[in-house]
Amino acid sequence: MKRIRGFAVAMTALFFVHVALAADTPPRAAIASAHSLATEAGFEVLAQGGNAFDAAVAVAAALSVVEPQSSGIGGGGLFLLRRAGDGKEVMIDARETSPIAVDMKDYVGANGEPDRDHATNGPLSAAIPGEPAGLVWMAKHYGKLPLAKSLAPAIRIARKGFKPDGRFLKELAMRKEVIARYPASAALYLVDGEAPKSGWTFKSPDLARVLERIAESGNDGFYRGELAQVLVDGVRRQGGRWTLDDLAKYEVKERAPLAFDYRGWHIVTASPPSSGGIALAEILNVLGGYDLGKLDRVHRVHLTVEAMRRAYRDRAEYLGDPDFVGMPIARLMSPDYAAGLRASIHPEKATPSELLPPYLAPEQGTHTTHFSIMDKEGNLVAGTQTVNLIFGSGFVVPGTGFVLNNEMDDFALVPGKPNAFGMLGNDRNAPKPGSRPLSSMSPSFVIGEDKVGVIGTPGGSRIITMVLEGILAFIDGESPETFVGNPRYHHQYMPDVISAEKGAFTPDEVRALEAMGHKVSESERRWGFMNAVSWDRKTGAMHAGSDPRGDSGSGVVK
Ligand code: GLY
Repeated sequence: MKRIRGFAVAMTALFFVHVALAADTPPRAAIASAHSLATEAGFEVLAQGGNAFDAAVAVAAALSVVEPQSSGIGGGGLFLLRRAGDGKEVMIDARETSPIAVDMKDYVGANGEPDRDHATNGPLSAAIPGEPAGLVWMAKHYGKLPLAKSLAPAIRIARKGFKPDGRFLKELAMRKEVIARYPASAALYLVDGEAPKSGWTFKSPDLARVLERIAESGNDGFYRGELAQVLVDGVRRQGGRWTLDDLAKYEVKERAPLAFDYRGWHIVTASPPSSGGIALAEILNVLGGYDLGKLDRVHRVHLTVEAMRRAYRDRAEYLGDPDFVGMPIARLMSPDYAAGLRASIHPEKATPSELLPPYLAPEQGTHTTHFSIMDKEGNLVAGTQTVNLIFGSGFVVPGTGFVLNNEMDDFALVPGKPNAFGMLGNDRNAPKPGSRPLSSMSPSFVIGEDKVGVIGTPGGSRIITMVLEGILAFIDGESPETFVGNPRYHHQYMPDVISAEKGAFTPDEVRALEAMGHKVSESERRWGFMNAVSWDRKTGAMHAGSDPRGDSGSGVVK
């Protein structure tokens, strides 16, 4: 008996030693992305001795190949990193920039109305890509492997091809008219001028060659030399304003992420040129003053919507490219400021948005992708990347094999006139030569005493409220596999309505919210494609969740 007790004590001690070790580093790696081929690319690179940052390069590049409707080498992204060794947290800003020769007259039609075609389709809508420089930077400064290894899976998939899923085919059909305008776009994405059907194999040997150039020569392979000349010539031939100087001068920016605390959790998130982190901080600072756990769902939703309404009002009034405009970030993120906002919230009544001071808000596009990675060393990556709208500008320069973004539409191109989403512009976010458009991308880390989460999603201006709802669910104990699928609701100040996915509210909850003065609009439309991973330091449990809204998403722990 004594021996058994001794054995039990020894085993208990061993168990605690194991738990203590597990607390320092995750037992396995976790990757969640919008496509199983991209998630596999990440694990392939980890198996070769790469770290989370090499895996991020592999996943980001593979997504560029397999999900070109959402992001790509012709686009840009924001990559939030946490390096376990020294705790360094950084946001790699690989956002696209406005061409130096930008002329806002291009975006106004002869009748004085906004020229939405120029803003969203073809070469005038394309900003200078940041994605290639972002990948090169991440590999060089944070990775362990050469680019030739981390880009290898993407190069292989681009050359061999793969069978696109239903979402890819449906979204391609939606952009067919614009893609058909440009011969190289049509040759890449259409079959005999038509949107391809299920069973079609998509290949891009030209893109494989572009990725090989980047693998061999880094930034010079894309931003200088032969490819730069091909890109500039191709854009200018179709009426765009790119120059060789635009490409040669493109720079990744390393920015300090924003960080704040909420109910004992530390949130690390995107800084400007994203509006996401500031809006998240405002909303969570407001909510931090309530004991949400003691409230019924209707009152929780009411207060959350009121916090969303106020944060979205501020978000675009004050924000733009930090290299070009000053911003009252400390004020917007301060708990005292949140206390002032909270004081204006009636506990039982909606505040009509028109009673808040007006602002002119730009809106962001809806097609983007997010991946989350955690490796066994505890390195974290939250990467959100985009070409803006579906298949970006729809324009492929002959010989390159990838679509250019239409990120110019994330600028307020015609101040005072609505953009594609019926929203108005603010000249803080007007394009200046070389400036970056305001974004909603909100890659985030949620760090608690025991648990660590990595989270993000596409979804235009809804990104912020989706990430908010994911963070709140994670803090309340839900795991990524479940919270990525939760039905969502959203309020963005204007229009003054709570939009909700089917199932977000019961009929009784809708009635109760309406009685408080809210308008609720439920629709069949589903939003976002959240990919999140987590680790419980205490139990060692790891999770990877990919949004069931996407056909091809893949969250894997191994
Ligand atoms: N283009 C989407 C965003 O940056 O928010």
